[in-house]
Amino acid sequence: NEGALWGARFATGPSPELAELSRSTHFDWDLALYDIAGSHAHAKALASAGYLSEDEERTMHDGLDTLAAGITDGSLLPTPADEDVHGALEQALISVVGADVGGKLRAGRSRNDQIATLVRLYLIDHSRTIAREILRLIDALVAQAEAHPEAIMPGRTHLQHAQPVLLAHHLQAHAWPLVRNLERLVDWSVRASVSPYGGGALAGSTLGLDPQLVASELGLARPSENSLDGTAARDVVAEFAFVTAMIGIDLSRFSEEIILWNTREFDFVTLDDGYSTGSSIMPQKKNPDIAELARGKAGRLIGNLTGLLATLKALPLAYNRDLQEDKEPVFDSVRTLETVLPAFAGMVATLRFNTARMAELAPQGFSLATDVAEWLVKQGVPFRDAHEISGHLVRVCEENNIELHEVTDEQLAGVSSHLTPAVRGVLTIEGSVASRTGVGGTAPVRVAEQRYELVQRAQRA
Ligand code: ARG
Repeated sequence: NEGALWGARFATGPSPELAELSRSTHFDWDLALYDIAGSHAHAKALASAGYLSEDEERTMHDGLDTLAAGITDGSLLPTPADEDVHGALEQALISVVGADVGGKLRAGRSRNDQIATLVRLYLIDHSRTIAREILRLIDALVAQAEAHPEAIMPGRTHLQHAQPVLLAHHLQAHAWPLVRNLERLVDWSVRASVSPYGGGALAGSTLGLDPQLVASELGLARPSENSLDGTAARDVVAEFAFVTAMIGIDLSRFSEEIILWNTREFDFVTLDDGYSTGSSIMPQKKNPDIAELARGKAGRLIGNLTGLLATLKALPLAYNRDLQEDKEPVFDSVRTLETVLPAFAGMVATLRFNTARMAELAPQGFSLATDVAEWLVKQGVPFRDAHEISGHLVRVCEENNIELHEVTDEQLAGVSSHLTPAVRGVLTIEGSVASRTGVGGTAPVRVAEQRYELVQRAQRA
């Protein structure tokens, strides 16, 4: 088992089938630069505890720098004989600095504490990339809301016309969950900022290495309090996978609306040519593929989370090789969001809204019936009666095949003496939205304030 990290107690090397099953370099090579960072930090800890001379430490850092350059330019790659990124890099280090120095690096650490640390470093870095992309999407939503401060659309519950709302209010309603996802990433990164390095395989080290030194070198707040927990826990990975799944779900919910809005029947939006696709057979087609892919990939993000949770369930302490299965799903979730988010932001930024069509549909389906009832309340009618009167009026309109704003004075009076012609003051969509001035309501003034708050929260995160 030439060049491997273990082997002396075995009479033979691993069978080819085992080697094939065991190998993880095809995905854990993504951690190579983090492995190097861990080794730099570990070399410092070894040197400060007296296990490396100054010369040896310098040789070690120089050798690690050489490896990092090779990883970055692609000239250093794992070989088929390498089991994992850790073994491959130890071999590479030895081939650069020799076994006398290179062979000292592994003292006081295990792949178990290494991998548990490296996956945190990887996720913390990518959480920043994902956060940046979410911010760009929030910017795109805010810009669209700002560009359409007065446009009114049908607000829906149960997908039925409910009450008119501002388009800006609706767009901002998609931005808020993204702001909360940003905040989740930030909260998570505080919990993630812990270094299992120094926990060894499971029980800690006898060498007296300074784990805080390693943590600080890696930009992590502190060492893990418990070496068993540090090497075996993966809730930090699962929680990250949850946040990515939640982001996927929030994008998917918005996607579903964009897909509906883009139908001929709705005709609320036009997608930019650069952010829509054609058909190989139907020349006229222009499809919302970005929204569909975002919606589809939400399933994949959920699958990555549930797969990981299933892996973790019932694992005894401490490290088990099952834990190797944490990486592919979460790496996939990272790549998925890092691909989906930029395309999604571009699609949103370039969406054109058919505000005339939205405004035309907004009062339809008796969406001002609540305004009638609340107008009656302001005239002193108990809401219970007001609801009845307004409902009766809707029935009269339905029977006469007209909308609420089309009723005659006689029809109003026929339903209730409380319904004077003054009620027409609330029978416009502009009047309706303008009157919803309660906190979080859809009145233009509240929506503008809310937008300011939204931007503040996003920037604070
Ligand atoms: N490749 C492993 C993982 O991803 C780390 C190596 C630990 N291997 C071991 N035999 N203890 O979790």
